[in-house]
Amino acid sequence: MKRVVPISAPPPEEAPGAAAGANDVMHLMRPGPLQLAALPPLSLYVHLPWCLRKCPYCDFNSHEWRAGGDALPEERYLDALVADLDAALPLVWGRTVHTIFIGGGTPSLFSPASIDRLLGDLRARLKLAPDCEITLEANPGTFERDRFRAYRAAGVTRLSVGVQSFNDAHLTALGRVHDRAQAIAALEEAAAAFDTFNLDLMYALPGQTLEGLDADLDQALALAPPHLSVYHLTIEPNTYFAKFPPVVPEDDTAYAMLDRITERTGLAGFERYEISAYARPGHRCAHNLNYWQFGDYLGIGAGAHSKLSFAHRIVRQVRFREPRLYMDNALLAHAVAQSDEVALSDLPFEFMLNALRLKEGFSLAQFGERTGLAVTAIQRGLEEAQRKGLVERDLWRVWPTPRGLDFLSDLQTIFLPDG
Ligand SMILES: C[S@@+](CC[C@H](N)C(=O)[O-])C[C@H]1O[C@@H](n2cnc3c(N)ncnc32)[C@H](O)[C@@H]1O
Ligand code: SF4
Repeated sequence: MKRVVPISAPPPEEAPGAAAGANDVMHLMRPGPLQLAALPPLSLYVHLPWCLRKCPYCDFNSHEWRAGGDALPEERYLDALVADLDAALPLVWGRTVHTIFIGGGTPSLFSPASIDRLLGDLRARLKLAPDCEITLEANPGTFERDRFRAYRAAGVTRLSVGVQSFNDAHLTALGRVHDRAQAIAALEEAAAAFDTFNLDLMYALPGQTLEGLDADLDQALALAPPHLSVYHLTIEPNTYFAKFPPVVPEDDTAYAMLDRITERTGLAGFERYEISAYARPGHRCAHNLNYWQFGDYLGIGAGAHSKLSFAHRIVRQVRFREPRLYMDNALLAHAVAQSDEVALSDLPFEFMLNALRLKEGFSLAQFGERTGLAVTAIQRGLEEAQRKGLVERDLWRVWPTPRGLDFLSDLQTIFLPDG
């Protein structure tokens, strides 16, 4: 049974720093600059913020759990997620949720019983599509036999396994808590327990050669994953690697690696449907596709981001990042730290930032539907991108050329607002 949440519940005491009125639906529904004919599909993102150890390259909102042997505060965190969702429900009232992604951090640190409770709590409050994709991120370092089957039994339909490499020396350099053997065991178990799963790899790793990359691809393809995500290792600001940069392959080698990845995955029956994503037919990640198609998402959990459309505006929200602060505030129904309306002038860039990652690009109708803007808003940019050989178009669609995908940030930059 759905719990009824009053539309304008009196706010509890103001939490320090909370975004006032973030969940005030009447305010968000008032007349405004946009006119959206329809709302886009809605996804739900749930962030579980803890990891066994912080990887030196990682800038996600992930926090090492070092509590001297204390168990994770799973129950309190789940209570906070429910309070967070209850407070946000009026913003998505009546809308169907098409996909759920439980990401992190390392969600597989949470017990199957906790994931079962979480999914029960979500189902009790949200209208899920009958074929709702429910993904959970898993780390081979938290893998035990039968754990994945228990997630499946709880209702998870898809695992995303963060492997990064099958080479023990690279795994050590990346600070991973698992080794090659654990990665293979986890993937074999994922294949046995799930109809579909994703394997995350990174390339251009410290000390990696083209032959080394081939060995990683040999191993990955031998496990026949239905979906592969392959990311160029980036040195993100405010990470250990930014302070102590490792020696990584030259740009030319990295480009050659990417060509090799695309060629070999293609021969193995995968399609590169997004800049970093390769899928066998029928196994694309519906959740990520909704991001790239400028769909809506409600993000609950520490530091989670949301993008929500209303008839007259599009709003972005961010929850408190630090897990304890998040829990304290979410339990008071004040999880949102920041809430901003997307300026009309930023919408073309925001749309293009996502849609141009897709090999199939986007339809002009979809641009109008999702941004409420006329195609004239991107006309000049499209002409420039076409002149530079970065996109192709027909009367209905626009899509990046192979060169456009190779120089994606140059292509996206064309659509930055003037000034
Ligand atoms: C949200 S992360 C978390 C997944 C999971 N916690 C793990 O690490 O196994 C998803 C993926 O992003 C990729 N990633 C994270 N940091 C990266 C970086 N600095 N450069 C490239 N890829 C990165 C990794 O492949 C990782 O599996
Ligand atoms: S396990 Fe994943 S989320 Fe956690 S620190 Fe490493 S890369 Fe980041």
